[in-house]
Amino acid sequence: MGGEYMEPSEAGNDPPAQVGGPAPGSDALRIDIVTLFPAMFAGPFEHSMIARAAAAGLVDIRVHDLRLWATDRHRTADDYAFGGGGGMVLKPEPLFRAVEDLLGIEPLRPEGPPPPCPVVLMTPQGHRFDHARARSLAAADRFVLLCGHYEGFDERVRLHLATLEVSIGDFVVTGGELPAMLVADAVARLRPGVVGLAGGVESDSHAAGRLEHPHYTRPADFRGWTVPSVLTSGDHGAVAVWRKRTAFQRTAERRPDMLAAVPPDRDEARWLGEL
Ligand SMILES: C[S@@+](CC[C@H](N)C(=O)[O-])C[C@H]1O[C@@H](n2cnc3c(N)ncnc32)[C@H](O)[C@@H]1O
Repeated sequence: MGGEYMEPSEAGNDPPAQVGGPAPGSDALRIDIVTLFPAMFAGPFEHSMIARAAAAGLVDIRVHDLRLWATDRHRTADDYAFGGGGGMVLKPEPLFRAVEDLLGIEPLRPEGPPPPCPVVLMTPQGHRFDHARARSLAAADRFVLLCGHYEGFDERVRLHLATLEVSIGDFVVTGGELPAMLVADAVARLRPGVVGLAGGVESDSHAAGRLEHPHYTRPADFRGWTVPSVLTSGDHGAVAVWRKRTAFQRTAERRPDMLAAVPPDRDEARWLGEL
């Protein structure tokens, strides 16, 4: 199921039961999320598409309590910042051990190889997360998401454990849990079969460098606000043109920067002249 997690008290000093790669032969995308607050993940992955994708073996999202890899009596995963200032910082040892255990690799060393799959640090200082990055993570067999808290991570985690730093936007939230949920969801829905409708993700906003066209459903007339007549005409060709045109128009109006990244095709160039 999605969002499996264990409380430290259930696990004693042993690594969690779900340690290890996906079942041999499984083509599920495996996402390991390491957090101080695993209970926060109890809801989001247990509903709707992600839950169905997990049940169908398409994604395997596992949530791990960072404190499982803290070795002292109090399972300490954070400590005061050197240099003072009061904020707490996540310690390197439990984070390194967590990733090494989860990936089944030897302890990382200065001259040794990097982790064999993406280890993603959730941080407001990272690359802005976008569709391209979601697509590249969706192409991996597995990856690890590290959730920060307090002042964030000891810098050695960033330098020597993480292979990618990701931000969900130019603002700061309390912890990496909500950002990790967003990233896991955005990546999981790009795996084949997760979004049922054929072509469903290809026409979504950002997938092809455009915002998506508007949608309408019944009733055709709501308080005098009516649906564009082309959508009820039964003319599929005309509907396709309307959708392409409205998608282009709203992209040009709201996100002209996207037109620079994916230049207008012939139809769009003509419509641009008419706007
Ligand atoms: C309060 S923030 C720490 C912010 C840090 N002191 C700074 O100024 O860069 C705690 C944690 O929340 C997560 N976080 C906060 N804002 C984020 C964002 N925009 N994108 C991704 N993660 C974020 C990170 O995991 C971070 O370590």
